[in-house]
Amino acid sequence: MRSFTFTHAITRKPSASIVAGLRAVDTGAPSLGLMIQHHADYIAALRSTGATVVELEALEAFPDSVFVEDTALCLPEGAVVMRPGAPSRLGEAAVMAPHLQALYKTVLHIENPDSFIEGGDILTTETEILVGRSARTNASGIAELAARVALWDHKVREVFTPPGVLHFKTDCSLLDGETILSTERLAASGCFDGYRVIHVAEGEEACANTIRFNDLVVMPAGFPRTRDTLDQAGYKVVEIGNSECAKLDGGMSCLSLRFSPS
Ligand code: GLY
Repeated sequence: MRSFTFTHAITRKPSASIVAGLRAVDTGAPSLGLMIQHHADYIAALRSTGATVVELEALEAFPDSVFVEDTALCLPEGAVVMRPGAPSRLGEAAVMAPHLQALYKTVLHIENPDSFIEGGDILTTETEILVGRSARTNASGIAELAARVALWDHKVREVFTPPGVLHFKTDCSLLDGETILSTERLAASGCFDGYRVIHVAEGEEACANTIRFNDLVVMPAGFPRTRDTLDQAGYKVVEIGNSECAKLDGGMSCLSLRFSPS
């Protein structure tokens, strides 16, 4: 499985309704203007690797729709459209489906009304697909995803998102075929046993959500000790401002669907 090399990404412009986006704690209204600047920097970083980046128009009806990752799981063989567990986000998935159908021969769907699953809870590695049960992703959603991707011989392993953490990938990222960047609290669960784990620096837990995208590790700006650790480990790090998305519990992975359709 090609878990960190990508020919394509899909993003969506932030909408003015972002001020109504979901958040665990209110730390102030996000600035749309600054978020748009950060979003442009993010897209430029992805494009700098040679990938094609689709920029979808803003969706005012869905305040959190800039966080496209939650709408689908994209694998080389096909995409699976999610059923987001946040009621205000459920409709985002259907809006994404036609864009995936334009790029993939096969697009499957999570269909059971009792199934809920968001892409932020899914970490795809070279060998398996880890899915964290969370407030947004339930056992039925995970079982249904496992059945869908079994068609392509992918294996799903259910894990757990730490209590109070939005998504599994809020606390971890894939850095390469065998290495995970993780908070200590998540790695302590043992879910990454068998992988090499690099811990984010104490107090810098908010940067665990990065992405490996081709030759780059794209991480939020403002976490110098973790950045230095990644630099010293040989990764080519690019820092992107994330102050506004962070007010909505969003990070680097949330802002794109990344894939290489075969
Ligand atoms: N604000 C991102 C989310 O809660 O889904």
